[in-house]
Amino acid sequence: MSLGLAEAPVSEKAPNFIGAVKALRALTENDLAAVNEQILSRMDSPVSMIPDVAGHLINSGGKRIRPMMTLASARLFGYDGDNHVKLAAAVELIHGATLLHDDVVDQSALRRGAETANIIWGNKESVLVGDYIFSRAFELMVAAQNLRVLEVLSRTAGIIAEGEVLQLATQKNIETDFDLYLSVVEAKTAALFAAATRSGAIISGCSEKEENSMNSYGRNFGIAYQLIDDALDYAGFESDLGKTVGDDFREGKMTLPVVYAIARAKPDEKSFWRRVIADGVQNNGDFEQARYFMERDDAVVDTISCAKSYAERAISDVSAAPDNDYANAMIELVEQSVTRGF
Ligand code: IPE
Ligand code: IPE
Ligand code: MG
Ligand code: MG
Repeated sequence: MSLGLAEAPVSEKAPNFIGAVKALRALTENDLAAVNEQILSRMDSPVSMIPDVAGHLINSGGKRIRPMMTLASARLFGYDGDNHVKLAAAVELIHGATLLHDDVVDQSALRRGAETANIIWGNKESVLVGDYIFSRAFELMVAAQNLRVLEVLSRTAGIIAEGEVLQLATQKNIETDFDLYLSVVEAKTAALFAAATRSGAIISGCSEKEENSMNSYGRNFGIAYQLIDDALDYAGFESDLGKTVGDDFREGKMTLPVVYAIARAKPDEKSFWRRVIADGVQNNGDFEQARYFMERDDAVVDTISCAKSYAERAISDVSAAPDNDYANAMIELVEQSVTRGF
């Protein structure tokens, strides 16, 4: 089943996004190597379970989109110091800590193509090592010696937690609408994208207008990114994603494909959604049935269209910045992210 996603299988579209990630990686190569060094050194602890659990997540890969955006946002405005490396490392550590926690909350078994830490070690271990990683991220933020950036990033850590809690509150609530869904996405995902780009901009000493436009770029990109992630949870392939498809359905998460599908369901189909989402009673074939309704009613296609409209806003935000290789790579990344299959 295609869910109307594309004529070609999603996996054949992936190279475009990979290409954009690689282009940004090539531009930030030296800085990114320093970021990875910082991350690894901060994982160190005499309590061996900490480097074991943290190292498992960090070494499983990850695209490093957020730290690359911090690096690029600083360089974009001509920054030539090295504090952006600490900030980028802090951003990726915040991301890593939230992933450890998120996989416990979502009971996910696969992350970055490997078994999750909660499956290998357990929930308690994942939560506690996640807390440790957060604390190391805060040390790095302080080391960058910029109070405004510290304020932005520390507030963001709280907003992400709020977003995850808000999502928990909307779970299984079939009354959840677009606006409520958007509040969850803005908090759990877009806030860190925005903080990543904004902190790079702040440290560069750019103008307030430029800082605001980079903040807006990150926010709009983050929303687009999560919308695609939510579409892929129904329409993607596990082998491309390195994550399990169908986790959101199993958990009764009110993501945009479900919000659209429920709003467009025929009166006699509402009971299906009530049973599988609100009551959490799911049988063999229900996921396929949900995907059938989504294809028929363009629920996934329209989620992707919505992502594209946020991607366009992100692209226009970059026009306020200098026109250089960094700006072009950031535009390309957003453009390709809405065609990604992983
Ligand atoms: C996963 O983020 C969490 C979401 C916001 C969807 P990424 O897709 O950036 O994950 P990694 O870091 O590359 O594994
Ligand atoms: C992503 O949440 C945002 C955070 C990790 C805070 P999801 O639960 O949607 O992301 P995946 O699908 O597990 O990567
Ligand atoms: Mg998850
Ligand atoms: Mg989650």
